[in-house]
This record gives sequence, C-alpha cells and structure tokens, in this order.
Amino acid sequence: MDIDDINTVTVLGAGNMGHGIAEVAALAGYTVNLRDINEEFVQKGYDQIEWSLNKLAEKDRISADEAEAALDRVTTFVDAGESVADADVVIEAVPEKMEIKKEVYGAIDEHAPADAIFATNTSSLSITELSEVTDRPEQFCGMHFFNPPVRMQLVEVISGAHTSDETMDAIEALADEMGKTPVRVRKDSPGFIVNRVLVPLMNEAAWIVDNETATIAEVDSTTKYDLGLPMGSFELADQVGIDVGFHVLEYMHEVLGDAYRPCPLLAEKVENGNLGKKSGKGFYDYEDGDGAQVP
Ligand code: 3HC
Repeated sequence: MDIDDINTVTVLGAGNMGHGIAEVAALAGYTVNLRDINEEFVQKGYDQIEWSLNKLAEKDRISADEAEAALDRVTTFVDAGESVADADVVIEAVPEKMEIKKEVYGAIDEHAPADAIFATNTSSLSITELSEVTDRPEQFCGMHFFNPPVRMQLVEVISGAHTSDETMDAIEALADEMGKTPVRVRKDSPGFIVNRVLVPLMNEAAWIVDNETATIAEVDSTTKYDLGLPMGSFELADQVGIDVGFHVLEYMHEVLGDAYRPCPLLAEKVENGNLGKKSGKGFYDYEDGDGAQVP
C-alpha cells in the first residue's frame, strides 16, 4: 500500500498507549476508529484524548482549532469487525499478552479490507508468531510507540519473518506523516531495541531496592541526575505501567533466559493492582500523595 492510500487508521485498544496513538493519528489528519471491548473503556480513552489535546493547546503546542479538528476525526467503536471495515491500517494496542493479541487478530482478519496493513504496538512479543494468526502475514509488522505517544518522538518499525518490504515502507512513511522518527528493527527479537535496554534498567533498579542497597528515591535521583534520563527508573515504570514492564520481562525471561528474571518487587506491585499512574498508585502515589513515594 502506498502512503497516499492511507486515510483511515483503526486503533484497537483505547488504554494508555491506544488512546495516545489514536491522538497522534488524528493530529496528523487521519480518520481514526478507536475500539475497545466496552463503552466504558472506549469512552475513557476518548476522554483522555480530549484531555491531552486541551493540555497541548493550553501549552501552545497546538492551536485550539487543531485540537477540536483532531477530536472530530475520532470515532469510537465496541464492535471489532465494524471498527476495521474501512481501515487502511490497523494498529493494535491491546494488553501485552500473546493469547489476547492472537484472539483479537483472529476476530478482525476477515472483516478488514484485504489490502489493509496490520501493525502491532507490542513492546516485545514475536511479530512473526502474531502475523501467522492472520491470512496476511506479509502485510503485518510491528509499530511500537513510546509512552506518552504524543510527546515521544521515536517509533520502532519491526519486521517479522514474513513482512514484505512494501509493508515496512508504508508503515515507516506513516510514522513520518505522524511527525515521528521511525527506526527500522531488522530482526524480530524480544524487546526489540528500546525495551531490550530499558526494561532491564527498571528491573535492576527494582533489584537494588529489593536487596536494600538503596531506596527508591536514591535510585531515581541517580538515574535522573547522574545518568541524565528525563525520569527516574521508578518514575518511568509508573509512567509506562509496571504491568507492561513486568510482562515484557516475563517474556524476555522465558525466551532469553535467567538474566531477565523479573524482580519480586515488580510482581508484588502487579498483584496488588498498583500499576503506576494509570491506576493512581505505583511506586509513587498520584491519588492522595501528589506524587509522593508509596511507603
Ligand atoms: N498529553 C498532553 N500532556 C501531557 C501528557 C499527554 N499524554 N502526559 C503528560 N502531559 C503533561 C503533564 O500533565 C504536564 O503538565 P503540567 O505541566 O500542566 O502539569 C506536562 O505534560 C509535563 O510536560 P513538560 O514538557 O513540562 O515536562 P517534561 O519536560 O518532563 O516532559 C515527558 C514530560 C515528555 C513525559 C518527559 O518526562 C519524558 O520524556 N519522560 C520519559 C518518557 C519515556 O522514556 N517514555 C518511554 C518509556 S518506554 C515505553 O513506553 C515502551 C513500552 O513498550 C514499555
């Protein structure tokens, strides 16, 4: 598919990443179908897009008219088949679980136009394995955005074993049109480039606290002020979702071996539902504590 043939982008999953990707696509002028499994989830995603667009306008990053026009381009869906019926590109951003993603692809493949490209926002899972659930493995690749998508410049474009060059070119061009900087990942390897580097950093930070070498605040100030990253490791874990990082680690552990064993501190947060900013609490408290550390 040529970039000029891409007009409608369907985003499956209206969560942390999905709503952000939908916002980026709408800001770039695409017609956006945003889909989640029920009205409540999809409405929440839509409201978050509205919040974010208003915030960008408040800060003069975009005009009020641009914000309004972008929101007007987004339509919400609950029915998966309907949401992909007129899609040129489907970007899937459902939870980071192989079974869930496979189920979604199984449900949409027959409803999407035959020439539509499927791009998964997976953080780590095998593009090749996911593509094989569909009848279009050559029109399937990874398109991995970073959180928050509207502020982060990079997009990893990942080739699976069956991905055609035409598909890679179209998705790279789409990332360009969205004002992003695409980086081509040539091999379908767990965690690709960024998460292969970043998620072990979050895990090591958790091990340091787990074995009482330093506190969360000490580790975060080191990451921020000595390593020069924009956020501390624990702040970043809260930003991306502790569950997301944890699932990436579980997968890297399974495929790549023991060096990636997730720290129990992360498992405990996930079990207790303290997932970071999106749940109100993670390593820091965003509900009552105004960003203070969770004891
Ligand atoms: N839309 C609009 N505004 C947003 C926003 C969004 N989605 N998210 C946050 N903001 C707002 C905040 O509310 C805040 O507003 P306020 O000043 O009124 O309180 C403001 O943005 C903060 O922005 P600033 O530019 O003033 O602050 P920073 O210069 O600190 O930038 C940041 C914020 C861009 C998020 C920066 O901290 C950053 O780059 N952090 C690192 C993020 C990162 O590395 N992400 C990648 C993680 S890895 C990943 O996602 C992969 C996955 O697979 C695991």
